[in-house]
Amino acid sequence: MIEIRGVRKQFGNIEILKGIDLDVNKGELLCLLGASGSGKSTLLQCINALEPIQGGHIKVDGIDVHDRKTDLNKLRQKLGIVFQQFNAFPHLTALENVALAPRLVGGKSRREARELAVKHLEHVGLAGKADLLPSRLSGGQQQRLAIARALAMQPTYMLFDEVTSALDPELVGEVLDTMRMLRKEGMTMVVVTHDIAFARNSSDRVAFLHAGTVAEIGTVGQVLGQPSSEHTKKFLRREHQ
Ligand SMILES: Nc1ncnc2c1ncn2[C@@H]1O[C@H](COP(=O)(O)OP(=O)(O)O)[C@@H](O)[C@H]1O
Ligand SMILES: [Mg+2]
Repeated sequence: MIEIRGVRKQFGNIEILKGIDLDVNKGELLCLLGASGSGKSTLLQCINALEPIQGGHIKVDGIDVHDRKTDLNKLRQKLGIVFQQFNAFPHLTALENVALAPRLVGGKSRREARELAVKHLEHVGLAGKADLLPSRLSGGQQQRLAIARALAMQPTYMLFDEVTSALDPELVGEVLDTMRMLRKEGMTMVVVTHDIAFARNSSDRVAFLHAGTVAEIGTVGQVLGQPSSEHTKKFLRREHQ
């Protein structure tokens, strides 16, 4: 599991995360909601050791993310991350993009990496696109390629940061479907999203972040059905307008 305790994060003099406590349990899909600027992306980056913290701790399967002795390569192999914008290598095919990290970071042979790539492209429904350059793929296909690339490292956890926000509306569904498929397969996922409908029908729990704190966390029914925090209520009201 991922254990987040009292995490404080500053950029310069400004405290962005003000003591975050949060657990992510094995096999669950936890949605992180919250207004823009509430600290959602920063929190994901702290989990993935892309950002240092100034207080508290984060443990991933018992490994302290910010302990100087932690092997970051090993830690990051546990954590697949997908962003709003996927920066695929433009000169590499879809298959080569997926095979790259298993070979360079995961120590797989060329053949093993290729087999992994084939498997994960198939998994996200891109088997027929293996030999195309990323520029030949639609936005939705590019995001599924990003998911395949993360999965090829055989992570225990997947972190998603607004992965559908930059997509044309008609391409959103295929990416959300891919995430739902992973949930069904038992992947543990943290999903930052503005998509209340997705949070409602596809997550196990929802956490609502407000100004660097967890204003509320609970089941979908609790947080989205009967929110107790004024911040959550206000956020949900706005979504209905
Ligand atoms: N690298 C950075 N340097 C300084 N401030 C940052 C940096 N990244 C994020 N911030 C600030 O931290 C706050 C939270 O940002 P972010 O985590 O991106 O919020 P969210 O993802 O919820 O929209 C914002 O006020 C943002 O301006
Ligand atoms: Mg963000």
